[in-house]
Amino acid sequence: MIKAFIFDLDGVIVDTAKYHFIAWRRMANAVGSDFTEEENEKLKGVSRMESLDLILEWGGVEKTVAEKQELATQKNEWYREYILKMDDSEILEGILPFLDAAEAQGLKLAVGSSSKNATTILEQIGLKDRFEVIIDGNKLTRSKPDPQVFEMGAEAMGLKPNECVVFEDAEKGVDAALSGGFYAVGVGGDNLKHAHHVVPDFTNLTPNDILQALPAAAI
Ligand code: G6P
Ligand code: MG
Repeated sequence: MIKAFIFDLDGVIVDTAKYHFIAWRRMANAVGSDFTEEENEKLKGVSRMESLDLILEWGGVEKTVAEKQELATQKNEWYREYILKMDDSEILEGILPFLDAAEAQGLKLAVGSSSKNATTILEQIGLKDRFEVIIDGNKLTRSKPDPQVFEMGAEAMGLKPNECVVFEDAEKGVDAALSGGFYAVGVGGDNLKHAHHVVPDFTNLTPNDILQALPAAAI
């Protein structure tokens, strides 16, 4: 029986991909390189250091470990300039009524994000206190598609994976949820068809729409 919803943050609750893109491009340009918005899609759900490796690889740029650390730190400073300007107007459509309805139905709510900035973003948009559990990139030793982030979330709520639904906009995030034995709902893209269910976004969506779309064993 489903007892909790675990939400990825970036791309599910807020659209931060645009800020990651601007900050990563500033970094890429600084090392004489660049990358496209299409390539940026491949960075969704991917950790900071793995994203940096990909961007450098696309540009054919080689850097030492120490230089990479500096570039990642610089990118994060730029990224934080943008996220520190965020407010509740950036919460994606439908999220607030969905959280209200889920809470009213007695479902527990958690966030499972690869981002080390997840708690800052939740504070900025005023949602930090809406979640019983927040697992962010600072607590993780393994990145998605490893299920660690969601396993830690379920464990902190005292629940088993098959009692939780994970909402994810990234292919690697859906993979992580499925490999951990969670129910997975893809939010957005065509690349999420392996999830148990896919929704375009949260507009007019209710928790019951989700529960009814899952395999019978989930309810
Ligand atoms: C999320 C985003 C990724 C980002 C990662 C790490 O998963 O979708 O694009 O690279 O978090 O974010 P951070 O804030 O720790 O650099
Ligand atoms: Mg995401």
